[in-house]
Amino acid sequence: MKIIEVKNYHALSMLAAKIIIDEVREKPNLVIGFATGKTPLKLYKNLVGAYRKGEVDFSGIKTFNLDEYYPIKQNEYKKSYRSYMSKRFFSDVNIPKENIHLLDGNSKDIAKSCKDYENQIRKNPIDLQILGIGINGHIGFNEPGSKKDSKTRVVKLSPSTIKRNKVSYTKALTMGISTIMKSKKIILLASGKSKAEVIERMIKGKESEKLPASFLKNHKDITVIVDKKAGSLI
Ligand code: PGA
Repeated sequence: MKIIEVKNYHALSMLAAKIIIDEVREKPNLVIGFATGKTPLKLYKNLVGAYRKGEVDFSGIKTFNLDEYYPIKQNEYKKSYRSYMSKRFFSDVNIPKENIHLLDGNSKDIAKSCKDYENQIRKNPIDLQILGIGINGHIGFNEPGSKKDSKTRVVKLSPSTIKRNKVSYTKALTMGISTIMKSKKIILLASGKSKAEVIERMIKGKESEKLPASFLKNHKDITVIVDKKAGSLI
């Protein structure tokens, strides 16, 4: 596990964007796993900014998002990750529509949708997966108790996640731990004091289902980027 500590959220977002841009330049058909939440907001701004300046071309990449609420309620569509990604990133860059993969929070056959998503990823292995981390150690929506061999599936959200994300959803769809672990390279981002304790537990503690992010310790190419506050206990 490589750990990079940067000064603040601004520097973290700049570095994460630079890594993605460099990788896309090197491999124009890169397959990227994207995350949502507060942490990558500025990363997406930076990527859009770089695209507008002509510094990067996303026309060859493929994307897979980590997770989605389920089932999507009509009056809460704005809180869906499909809406987040469209608003913050996809509608402002040139990724062909057919190259964008999102979990379908409206699916009528959810078992099939999850299986299809897993198969799509198997056919298009993720080169670079971006992750955030929950204060309870979740990655994607793999909440505490998630198994190491878990795949894309429906999960029950933990009360702390529902509260923190300010949603009324109790269930979600997420790539599994094993799906995430198959990514060739992983970048985990953590910013702010609220993440300091979970980052400490992930780095210093043992691998355990109680802290799903701890499984990442066994990944062969993972870089954890923290700002000073998130890294204050390590
Ligand atoms: P956050 O969420 O970026 O909003 O803190 C991260 C996560 O829950 O994975």
